[in-house]
Amino acid sequence: MKFFVDTADVADIRALAETGLVDGVTTNPSLIAKSGRKMAEVIAEICALTPGPVSAEVTATEYEQMLAEGRYLRGIASNVAVKVPLTEAGLRTCRALSEEGTLVNVTLCFSPAQALLAAKAGAAFISPFVGRLDDIATDGMQLIADIVKIYRNYPHFKTEVLVASIRHPMHLVEAAKLGAGVATLPPAVIRQLLKHPLTDRGLEAFLADWRKTGQSIL
Ligand code: E4P
Repeated sequence: MKFFVDTADVADIRALAETGLVDGVTTNPSLIAKSGRKMAEVIAEICALTPGPVSAEVTATEYEQMLAEGRYLRGIASNVAVKVPLTEAGLRTCRALSEEGTLVNVTLCFSPAQALLAAKAGAAFISPFVGRLDDIATDGMQLIADIVKIYRNYPHFKTEVLVASIRHPMHLVEAAKLGAGVATLPPAVIRQLLKHPLTDRGLEAFLADWRKTGQSIL
């Protein structure tokens, strides 16, 4: 399973990239706005920190403008994946950019039918938002199960399921059990994944016993 980081915070991405756990990055207009920086600059910096795909999202809503924005964004670095919303214009843009060899991430997916359309449009990634479905008392993980099942029925689809809007470690664990190919995780969730009280307690005990020996390894 690939791990992407869901943030436009360059410092956070740099620190996490150093762990070797990061396979890519996703951003969206809200995350770019939160960074308070120029989009092209932030995306270029992020692209230099990871060889993996870095999703940069278009903000136009009409096809021609969306396509122009997508072409501009992919020109920032060779590892940019252009993110488009799951709308008619978005799918048309997805088809056009994919045919030009650009990776396209189709975002804001909330139904299996939408995911099917994205695969038919040649998307490299489909981003179903599990947390936002859970927020409205709908089972986000059922959507992942449905999409994984549908895509497995059609092996010629090359679209990877990129689980998005992850809010806590169990979202990731459940997505992994279902066989989703990618998860995009807020930095805080990646750090939560590491944590277990028995690890902390066990390490403390090992180190206390080790100190009593008076030895050092090096
Ligand atoms: C994915 O690409 C989106 O940026 C993100 O996962 C949305 O998460 P949110 O619902 O927590 O805003």
